[in-house]
Amino acid sequence: MSVYPIILSQTKFTHRDTLNYPFEERAMQFGDGVYEVVRIYNGNYYLINEHIDRLFRSAEAVKITLPFSKEELSNLLKNLLIKNSVTTDAKLYLQVSRGSAPRDHVFPIDTEANVYGYIQDQVRNVTGLQNGVKTITQRDIRWEYCSIKSLNLLPNVLAKQTASEHGAYEAILHKDGVVTECSSSNVYLVKDGMIHTYPTTKRILHGCVRMRIEKFVKDLDISFNEDGFSVEDIAIADEMFLTSSTSEVLPIVTVDDTEIGNGEPGPITRKLQSAYEKDANIIHNKLEQTT
Ligand SMILES: Cc1ncc(COP(=O)(O)O)c(C=O)c1O
Repeated sequence: MSVYPIILSQTKFTHRDTLNYPFEERAMQFGDGVYEVVRIYNGNYYLINEHIDRLFRSAEAVKITLPFSKEELSNLLKNLLIKNSVTTDAKLYLQVSRGSAPRDHVFPIDTEANVYGYIQDQVRNVTGLQNGVKTITQRDIRWEYCSIKSLNLLPNVLAKQTASEHGAYEAILHKDGVVTECSSSNVYLVKDGMIHTYPTTKRILHGCVRMRIEKFVKDLDISFNEDGFSVEDIAIADEMFLTSSTSEVLPIVTVDDTEIGNGEPGPITRKLQSAYEKDANIIHNKLEQTT
């Protein structure tokens, strides 16, 4: 995956080779910052306003003052696409930290936030989207404010690493047997035509793709229930899927080596994949099996 050369640094553009971070930087020393990952299709951002809104919510929640308005950030991000002449499927990584200052847990005074953003190619995971992926379950050991998209991702990193070591794509997290979300995506269970998922409390990230799923289900007249489900419920699921900006609507066909339904992506998942492709205006690498 290649990174495009021009980087957003503070509110300016610079070549990636010139980006030089001080060693006393709060993102590096404390994970003291927030971030976003935004999907790009054919050189256009998908759900950009939703991501900008969430970045502002996350920054406010951890008392970081952003050096731009939402409109200014939107213009900077548009210019980042233009300066890199992006026409491919890609993703933006955007990070804001509390800034650079001598190491001290207490907030530094009069220190500007550090901002950087870069674009990287990201092809659609067509094989996974068509065939589904394997997952494992793991205990959710994260803190109480998972609705903040904070840089503190160590529990998520460890869970995903364990999944990878088991040949799985994702780790489905649960607190005392109740499934919350995955290490880097939201998760859903389908039973008797109804979707079940964890409510958007502070315990999970309020996914931008999940917000679209809520719209798709209304359009498709599919029952969507924020009543959660348990690890035990997985054994009787008809379908399962996960969503995120990079994973899209990804069918889950195995959990801890147990097949979900008949071991193939189910019809509701397919309908949502199709709705996603239309909504994101996807032209290249379209799925064959969506209706
Ligand atoms: C823990 C977690 N949950 C859910 C999501 C899905 O969020 P989105 O749909 O905004 O990409 C992510 C995305 O990175 C995530 O890290």
